[in-house]
Amino acid sequence: MTAIVIVGAQWGDEGKGKIVDLASEHAEVVVRYAGGPNAGHTLVVGTEKLVVRLVPSGILQPRSMCLMGQGMVVDPGVLLTEIEALEKRGVTVRNRLFISEHAHLILPYHVLIDGLRESAATQKIGTTKKGIGPGYEDKVARRGIRFTDLRDLDRTRGLIDAALLAWAPLVHAWGASLPSTDAILDDLAPLAKKLLPMVADTGKLLDVAVRAGKHVLLEGAQGTLLDVDHGTYPFVTSSSAVAGGACTGAGIGPSRIDRVVGITKAYATRVGEGPFPSELTDEIGDQLRTRGGEFGSVTGRPRRTGWLDLPALRYAARVNGIDGWAITKLDVLTGLETVRVCVAYDTPAGRTEDFPVTELGVSRPVFEDLPGWSEAIEDIRELSQLPSNAARVVRAIEEKTGVGADIVSVGPRRDQTIVVNDLFR
Ligand code: GDP
Ligand code: IMO
Ligand code: MG
Repeated sequence: MTAIVIVGAQWGDEGKGKIVDLASEHAEVVVRYAGGPNAGHTLVVGTEKLVVRLVPSGILQPRSMCLMGQGMVVDPGVLLTEIEALEKRGVTVRNRLFISEHAHLILPYHVLIDGLRESAATQKIGTTKKGIGPGYEDKVARRGIRFTDLRDLDRTRGLIDAALLAWAPLVHAWGASLPSTDAILDDLAPLAKKLLPMVADTGKLLDVAVRAGKHVLLEGAQGTLLDVDHGTYPFVTSSSAVAGGACTGAGIGPSRIDRVVGITKAYATRVGEGPFPSELTDEIGDQLRTRGGEFGSVTGRPRRTGWLDLPALRYAARVNGIDGWAITKLDVLTGLETVRVCVAYDTPAGRTEDFPVTELGVSRPVFEDLPGWSEAIEDIRELSQLPSNAARVVRAIEEKTGVGADIVSVGPRRDQTIVVNDLFR
């Protein structure tokens, strides 16, 4: 039995798609456990690139069964478009992809409210405007609509009526109006018909796989610093992105999980608002953005770029229980004369090597300079072959977090990878 959680250690976009796609070659089951269509996970096979938003990143490996867990919020229209695009590419989806009957639906009013609230807010979050926040709000307010509800559209009608009633005062206060239940159901009914054959008790499917000793990957979305409990609140998403979220979000007990792999870039990025102390607003930041292709895979927004934050990684290692790192995009740093890393913070209470998660806005990063390298590293497949200064960045992460590297990624393709510890060995 090997169940491995793959979790983002930063503010998302660490390269989860690439690592999950790669590791799925040996996984019988891949489960997405959190988030919704706010995610964009990029898979690159040869010269072809594919971005998945809801479907697990194991979908291109034909052996893997893919599950969408109850921790997700799913926009049925987005999902169907994604499935059809995959099928058009010749990827088999039917009988391989299953959606948890407990997963909640994102409906048009969630998307509307997300957009209206962002426009009206004085303190914007910079959300993806895909309806994520309002979708999870309805879930915890116990007025959400789950995939199981679609089995009875009369029941769904009543639930939509109740949800619209709850949101109406807010929407009217913004001078907007909600769509009618009839209009929502007219669009939803054909989607429900197409998706219902894929709705299943995914927790049970997962349990059967785990009991049979199959290899299982639990794929996170977003990242630790966007987690609703552990992230840079309120500039976070609305789900449990951390490794613990895999238990509730996939429906697996903690005792069944064997390893947690944390993913981090060799630098840092953030999309949306919120503090980012190691941010670069100069030409080096632009260079990282251009060379790293740092533009949102969902919204196309330019990602903010900055130096690697080692206290943040130590924090992520702690809250996720990270056993090994997958370090991505080391190649993007090639050519820099100096590679800076944040090693500590000056906070109002003094200097600390801890990540001041509640005081980031009033803390200043303390940097250490590491010498850069100029040799291309995309073709390197052994850690020992890396230029010594590139290896030093890997070592800095390992030493400051007390966690070793399982994987070092040196390019977007599957083969552009240094495997230190084969995850399913
Ligand atoms: P995710 O949301 O964590 O799956 O990450 P995204 O797919 O949003 O963003 C990561 C981007 O980096 C994608 O364009 C990947 O193709 C790319 N990528 C992943 N690993 C590497 C790497 O090691 N080097 C380079 N240059 N690009 C990478
Ligand atoms: P993946 O899975 C990067 C950010 C948004 C915003 C905040 C809240 O590709 O790593 P939301 O729409 O979730 O309410 O927005 O979270 N955000 C992400 N940033 N990668 C993501 O997903 C993200 N999903 C949400 O930019 O700051
Ligand atoms: Mg992404």
